[in-house]
Amino acid sequence: MREAGRIVARVHVALKEAIAPGVSTFELDQVAADVLAKHGATSSFLGYRGYPAHICTSINEELVHGIPNKGRILQEGDIVSIDVGALYRGFIGDSGWTYAVGTISSDAQRLMAVTEASLFAGIEQAIAGNRVRDISAAVQHYVESRDMHIVREYTGHGVGRSMHEAPQVLNYVAGDIDGDLVLQPGLVIALEPMVQLGTWETRTLKDKWTVISRDHSLNAHFEHTIAVTNKGPEILTLL
Ligand code: MF3
Ligand code: CO
Repeated sequence: MREAGRIVARVHVALKEAIAPGVSTFELDQVAADVLAKHGATSSFLGYRGYPAHICTSINEELVHGIPNKGRILQEGDIVSIDVGALYRGFIGDSGWTYAVGTISSDAQRLMAVTEASLFAGIEQAIAGNRVRDISAAVQHYVESRDMHIVREYTGHGVGRSMHEAPQVLNYVAGDIDGDLVLQPGLVIALEPMVQLGTWETRTLKDKWTVISRDHSLNAHFEHTIAVTNKGPEILTLL
């Protein structure tokens, strides 16, 4: 899983370099496909429930699951969330990041900073002996105390040989069963807070994939694959 995670990180490095005004989201998909192939990995998204691309590219009010498209061109001031999953020797790494295209608004900067920091607030709680709910509570508190909104319809998840395994890791506290689960060394989870400026509600477009904020406000998504170890949380989706 470390190797799968490192490949995901390499894809993100290549994507970060490729992102610029005038580049299409289809070109980003090709960049990702090339890096995956170079490392002997495949996309864990391609073909998942019929998903037609290697990565997800979601611009501005699009939250997640945007489909790369030749006609969709990045513009100066956009923020683009890119989600990458690699399958390598039977194991999966999963990581998403929101990137700025050129110079972005101060609202967009603050949204990205809060979303990224909320991921790290969650990661800090991924400690053996804690419960899943400790992660959920830390993420929710970080976001809501900054007057932003944590999305409820999508959650983090266990990850391993399959992209989505138990436990479900909510980004807010609710009376769910998995919240009581005690974290044990060896558990690997993908933590992925999604944050919106307007409200927490979302809607799926007619393409059946692209998820947007219901009020069209800006949103961001940051995700890492994390191993719970005896020495604390280990982020697998880094170089
Ligand atoms: N990172 C996303 C997740 O954890 C990826 C799923 S997108 C799909 O659920 F394209 F694969 F459907
Ligand atoms: Co995920």
